[in-house]
Amino acid sequence: MRTENKMNTIELFAGVGGFRVGLEKANPDMFKVVWGNQWEPSKKAQDAFACYTSNFIEGIHSNEDITKVSDESFKNLDAKLVVGGFPCQDYSVARSLSGEKGIQGKKGVLFWEIKRVIEATSAKYVLLENVDRLLKSPASQRGRDFAVMLATFRDLGYKVEWRVINAAEYGQAQRRRRVFIFATRNDSGFSKELESYEAEDILFEKGFFSPAFPVKHEVIKNRKLIGKLPEDIVEISDTFSALFHNSGYMEDGDFYSIHTEPVFEKPVLLKEILQPEETVPEKFYLSETAIEKFSFLRGAKKIERTSADGHKYIYSEGGMSPIDDLDKPGRTMLTSEGTTNRSSHVVEVDGKRRFLTPLECERLNGFPDNWTNTMSDRMRYFCMGNALVVGLIERMGKRIEQLEHKYMDEIPLQEKLFLNN
Ligand SMILES: C[S@@+](CC[C@H](N)C(=O)[O-])C[C@H]1O[C@@H](n2cnc3c(N)ncnc32)[C@H](O)[C@@H]1O
Repeated sequence: MRTENKMNTIELFAGVGGFRVGLEKANPDMFKVVWGNQWEPSKKAQDAFACYTSNFIEGIHSNEDITKVSDESFKNLDAKLVVGGFPCQDYSVARSLSGEKGIQGKKGVLFWEIKRVIEATSAKYVLLENVDRLLKSPASQRGRDFAVMLATFRDLGYKVEWRVINAAEYGQAQRRRRVFIFATRNDSGFSKELESYEAEDILFEKGFFSPAFPVKHEVIKNRKLIGKLPEDIVEISDTFSALFHNSGYMEDGDFYSIHTEPVFEKPVLLKEILQPEETVPEKFYLSETAIEKFSFLRGAKKIERTSADGHKYIYSEGGMSPIDDLDKPGRTMLTSEGTTNRSSHVVEVDGKRRFLTPLECERLNGFPDNWTNTMSDRMRYFCMGNALVVGLIERMGKRIEQLEHKYMDEIPLQEKLFLNN
């Protein structure tokens, strides 16, 4: 299904453009990233931004600290969709001294920038990505940060659905688990449709995620949480705590969260993303010393350590196989990928052990080959460790397209006539 209906999009924390690649794969005629922002804090070399600019031509590319960008910059973009993968930080708030009702978040917390962009644009849809730890943070007050986020969307006039997705469980090449957060403005056609369903039906079948990422129609291990967010966001910040599960829905402050399990799809395997061995440069092969280091790093161990206050304790970690199983999808890629580090992949091909190449790392995330070849190998690994699995965004883009098609009544008549021809 293709529509000519354009969806102007703002891409925040763009990195090397994972959201944009996914959305353009879903429908290049529909998703138009009109404004993309990427700035690596306190670094002179802006490798991710340079890569973004070399791969994408259209739209405004901004390389500024997002906290320094004025509201005016987003106002005349006619943005209907805001996307971004942002850090998990401390979202606690305090009442501001100036206004009785005003609140103040900690400085440098980037979620508040997302809020500012939503306020400036009144985008119809928002799609965000974060580590799944966000649902439980901080350790001292479980679920507080996510509740602050939900309440922010409630106050902005949005409904929210969230889902933790492990990419490999939906046919992708990497076991990468992330939480995706989809918000839709209360006056959108989809939003009105959601109001007519039970929350469980939304999560199992009718909502944003399930049609694209099907789940079994059962609450797993009876894990269910139903509740209402306090009206006052400062109260949430000060005292609220909740154990949010991997799927959930929030409407008007009422939240419903359950544990769901995917209807698994066959993943892409590590062996399927490897480049032909004869094309792998020598520098990626492990020396005998590196092989020894890796067997120590990946082995089971108990080490005596001393904490900052002089207290001695035993640090222990379980063993992992010295090489990665080629008949499985890849593990989660971190920004330290490609260094002598326990979490880096080590593959053995024709009896020789080596790192994954940067190109293979791009494939683990579903980027086009050589997407990041504008930068050093180290930065290529780093950017892939930060990026997302593009195939998931492609599916989400197609889902947004479905919604747009269904609610053509929201499209101005002129465009509708064009669509029907
Ligand atoms: C998790 S990564 C997102 C990666 C992206 N989704 C991709 O596919 O490459 C977050 C990005 O936010 C950027 N960032 C951090 N602080 C920023 C700020 N203050 N302003 C703009 N960008 C920032 C980082 O440089 C990083 O590239």
